[in-house]
Amino acid sequence: MEYFTLARVIHVIAVILWIGGVAMVTTVIIPAVKRMKSKEERIETFEMIEGKFAIQAKITTLLTGGSGFYMMYELNAWNRYLDYRFWWIHAMTLVWIIFTLILFILEPYVLHKLFKTQALKNPEKTFRIMHRLHWILLVLSLITTAAAVAGSHGWFWLK
Ligand code: HEM
Repeated sequence: MEYFTLARVIHVIAVILWIGGVAMVTTVIIPAVKRMKSKEERIETFEMIEGKFAIQAKITTLLTGGSGFYMMYELNAWNRYLDYRFWWIHAMTLVWIIFTLILFILEPYVLHKLFKTQALKNPEKTFRIMHRLHWILLVLSLITTAAAVAGSHGWFWLK
C-alpha cells in the first residue's frame, strides 16, 4: 500500500509540473510572444520556450500515465471504465491520450513544420489559433484535475 501512496504522490507532482506548465505557456508566454514586433523573433522565441517545455511535458506525461495505470492495477479498478459515474477516470485517460499523441507523434512529425510555415505566412492568425488550442487543452485539463480530486475522494456528482 505504501507503493500505492508513492504512486499517488508521483501522479500529483507530475500533474502539477505538466498542467502548471501548460497554464504558464497559455496565460503568460504566448500573450508575451504575441506582442513581439518581428515575426521571426516571435517564432524563434516561442519555439525555444515551447521546445524546452516539451521535454518536461514528455517526462511528466510518462510519469502521470505510469503512476495512473499502476494505481488502476493496484486498485483493480479496470471495471471503472465501464461505469459512467467514473467519468473523471475517462477524462484523465482522454487528456493523457490527447497530450501523448500531440507530444510524441503530432508535434514532431506534423505540427512543428506546419506551425513554422503558417507562422511565416500569417503570424497573427497562426498565433491566434495556437493560443486558442492551448486554452482548450488547459480548460479541459483543469476540469479533469478538479473532477479527479473530487472523484477520488468520494464525490461522484452522478448517482
Ligand atoms: C493514463 C492516464 C491516467 C490514469 C490511468 C489515471 C489514474 C488515476 C487513478 C487510478 C487515481 C486514483 C483514483 C482513486 O483514488 O480512486 C488518479 C488520481 C488522480 N489523477 Fe489521474 N490518471 C491519469 C491521468 C491523469 C491526468 C491527465 C490528470 C490531470 C489532468 C490526472 C489527475 C489526477 C488527480 C488530480 C488525482 C487525484 C489525486 C488525489 O486527490 O489524491 N490524472 N488517477
